[in-house]
Amino acid sequence: MRTRITELFGIEHPIIQGGMHYVGFAEMAAAVSNAGGLGIITGLTQGTPEKLAAEIDRCKAMTDKPFGVNLTFLPALTPPDYPGLVEVIIKAGVPIVETAGNNPQQWLPALKDAGIKVIHKCTSVRHSLKAESIGCDAVSVDGFECGGHPGEDDIPNFILLPRAAEELKIPFVASGGMADGRSLVAAMAMGADGMNMGTRFIATQEAPVHDNVKQALIAASERDTRLIMRPLRNTERVLNNDAVERLLQKEKELGDKLGFADIADEVAGVYPRIMKDGDMDAGGWSCGMVAGLIHDIPTCKELIDRIMAEADTIIAQRLEGFRAA
Ligand SMILES: Cc1cc2nc3c(=O)[nH]c(=O)nc-3n(C[C@H](O)[C@H](O)[C@H](O)COP(=O)(O)O)c2cc1C
Repeated sequence: MRTRITELFGIEHPIIQGGMHYVGFAEMAAAVSNAGGLGIITGLTQGTPEKLAAEIDRCKAMTDKPFGVNLTFLPALTPPDYPGLVEVIIKAGVPIVETAGNNPQQWLPALKDAGIKVIHKCTSVRHSLKAESIGCDAVSVDGFECGGHPGEDDIPNFILLPRAAEELKIPFVASGGMADGRSLVAAMAMGADGMNMGTRFIATQEAPVHDNVKQALIAASERDTRLIMRPLRNTERVLNNDAVERLLQKEKELGDKLGFADIADEVAGVYPRIMKDGDMDAGGWSCGMVAGLIHDIPTCKELIDRIMAEADTIIAQRLEGFRAA
């Protein structure tokens, strides 16, 4: 399949693995890139520019295909060393950066001067247009279904994607709720040039997370995610568990008075405990509604090959078969 996204990034299949905290290590990114998609290392998970440089080196040793690095810009009391992380990315010759969170404008001149292609993840048409206007090469349009931070507009992809297609000139991929060949064909029908998956890629052989996390995805249905931190306007879609129930109870009781400190126990620093130790009740962790469509743990190559074969069958047989003679 050739699309504006495969052309832009020099990849075989229009499938991207979005940055994921404590999942997007070199093993994950390399496996997706080796399977013909675009794998992405999660910059902030590595902690320091030195550690990110080492992770990029590890990834280069595992694949000679293009891969990217995710830079998530979040408000923080002590911000990460973004200039150092950007410098490492440029020095290492990483060809693609996925930005997310705040407007990446400040970092674009340095990235673009280095010839790096930038795909910005947005949850609204207006933010996508902003990304286009400041010079991003592509956007990842993240619908309300998505795992992680869906923004505050709550527009699902059946509306958001065609709206993005109406307005954008640069290519975009559909993100949020994508799992299989049906997702890919639907996304392309609505104007996208490919798709970005988070949650689905966690349930793969190569995802460097505890098996409990993969089993939790298989056990979960599409009804098992919850939205947390809405009162803080930092909404996150997570898999439900005891800690999330506790957190939601606090949100209910404290109402407008809720502050981050009130829920820190349920969200701060929980990722290593979940992803590495498999402590599934340690706190809230990002998970999409698409968990309901996850029933197995294939290799990344099996998953991507299956998606492409299924997409081909849907287009050539199912859709073609609807044409009136
Ligand atoms: C466990 C997990 C961690 C994530 N961490 C990040 C992150 O650090 N930065 C980011 O930009 N997106 C992050 N995301 C969002 C994904 O990159 C992607 O946009 C999202 O998962 C797409 O929705 P889906 O899960 O329905 O496929 C995360 C998602 C998951 C499931």
